Amino acid sequence: MIDTHCHLNDEKYENVDEIVNNYLSAGVDKVVCASSSFSASIKAGEIAAKYPSVYYTVGIHPDEVDEFDIDRLESLVKKASNKLVAIGEIGLDYFHNKENKSEQIHAFISQIELANKYKLPIVIHCREAYGDTLDVLKQHPPKYGAVMHCYSGSLEYARQIIALGYKLSFTGNVTFKNAKNIKEVAQNIPEDSFFLETDSPYLTPEPNRGKRNEPKNVFFVAAVIADLRGISKNKLSEITDKNAIEFYKFK
Ligand code: NI
Repeated sequence: MIDTHCHLNDEKYENVDEIVNNYLSAGVDKVVCASSSFSASIKAGEIAAKYPSVYYTVGIHPDEVDEFDIDRLESLVKKASNKLVAIGEIGLDYFHNKENKSEQIHAFISQIELANKYKLPIVIHCREAYGDTLDVLKQHPPKYGAVMHCYSGSLEYARQIIALGYKLSFTGNVTFKNAKNIKEVAQNIPEDSFFLETDSPYLTPEPNRGKRNEPKNVFFVAAVIADLRGISKNKLSEITDKNAIEFYKFK
């Protein structure tokens, strides 16, 4: 089982050894440690160097756009190991800040171009910015894949993303009782269009909601989606792992 998006580089994890041991013994054999800032990107690289099961991304999240510096980011990509699997999380967040839309869009486009230059896929963060995100993807297409992480949009929007050849990934919020829309998406999109993640330490799935999240909880996400699609958990994780491997091309 693969957790395609977690933040082992988050300060909420004081003891990364313990978290890694927890997921390995639960049956998660690979995780992607996603980054949102320069310090998180550097830390993600260090964690990936230490643990064979950890792959990583580098990127500047829209909330951190004030520190965006494409040359500095490119220097991280240049000296990255072969465990760097994507540029992310990048994108647009108008929930936290809509005063700096043009800076966010600029940073998003520059990072798509960087990903294209280094033949990497991108991991997209999108919050209350669906229209502009789609416009950017159409005008500056990522050439090596893109995933809308923590997908929380509509089924119609999901279909537009999938039609462009891009993927979705689902977190613990699909397990929430009030998550009718996300459940509808997870139930109805094609089998080859999505994979699983935790976004831990955030978005803890039911039945552990309220506690700190960990990659080992990706099984709860799998169970809910398997149920929605009427297949076994094993079959679901076989499918989603295959999709994740094709997307991230783990070395
Ligand atoms: Ni995240």
